[in-house]
Amino acid sequence: MSYPATRLRRLRYLPAVRELVRETRLEPSNFILPLFVRDGQNVRQPISSMPGQFQLSLDQFELEIQRIKDLKLGGVILFGIPPHKDAVGSDSYSDEGIVQRALRAARRVAPDLLLVADACFCEYTDHGHCGVVNDKTGRPGVDNDATLPLLARQAVSFARAGADLIAPSGMMDGMVGAIRGGLDEAGFSHVPIMSYAVKYASAFYGPFREAAESTPRFGDRRAYQMDPAASADQALREAELDLAEGADIIMVKPALAYLDIIRAVHERFPGVPIAAYNVSGEYSLVKAAAAKGWVDERAIALESLTAIKRAGASIILTYWAQDAVAWLRGSP
Ligand code: PBG
Repeated sequence: MSYPATRLRRLRYLPAVRELVRETRLEPSNFILPLFVRDGQNVRQPISSMPGQFQLSLDQFELEIQRIKDLKLGGVILFGIPPHKDAVGSDSYSDEGIVQRALRAARRVAPDLLLVADACFCEYTDHGHCGVVNDKTGRPGVDNDATLPLLARQAVSFARAGADLIAPSGMMDGMVGAIRGGLDEAGFSHVPIMSYAVKYASAFYGPFREAAESTPRFGDRRAYQMDPAASADQALREAELDLAEGADIIMVKPALAYLDIIRAVHERFPGVPIAAYNVSGEYSLVKAAAAKGWVDERAIALESLTAIKRAGASIILTYWAQDAVAWLRGSP
């Protein structure tokens, strides 16, 4: 017998064999594209911290939906920059709110495209926090329980405007239960919830806050988002609670620095679809390095997306969604 009997390189020599035995495959339907909508006419405002991404007025947003509707993406997730912010983020639960108008427009243009509404308050409040702020506890901060009914109202309004999936991102305790209750009561028991169940207080969100104009005016989000140093067990508790409250899909965010967490959640809850958010910082770091000629954007992006899927996420929210579809089809 020639040595060695097992040669793992045998499956690596030929491109066709590598393709044949590849376990992790990216598909357009894995991707959800985040889009930012704002007021105005004919606005396609580049987001300087996120090259290639834009704040779009509704007319431009419609054109964008036209362009992407046949890419077979998993869907789009909408973030709104409202014309007026106030203490309770009332634009977010107005049926004439910016996201509600965008949902109706997208539904008209692309009846079959999955529309996800991000349910949170930071883009809509004048203080930039993810809920109602008061100082009941002696320190100004987000009042968890005062925020819940408003979140439910927001979710119902999004569903009424045509959202197919509600994605609460504010890390309030009980948010999934409150939204589930609100949706069910309003006749939307068929609308699933994709919970940002495991969301860390991460510096990787930096570029997004310029995109969504949602930087907190005081303090930070560490009193509600998770500590990056927390053990995977805490992530599992978050996921378990949200599932018990009726979450249909569990999201882990950010993705790349938390692949261990994606894997842990996937293993603990087999059969539960896992989403991962490949966040703004993960995107912009690569864009910046690629602009300097230091890395190959396409190769890094596809490798990152593959790693996220391999870790256990079948749904990836990514700013590369459109590019990735083109790259997977073989365009340079
Ligand atoms: C909150 C929200 C954030 C992101 C998505 N939803 C920002 C935050 O928590 O500060 C970040 C997404 C990204 O960085 O790409 N509504």
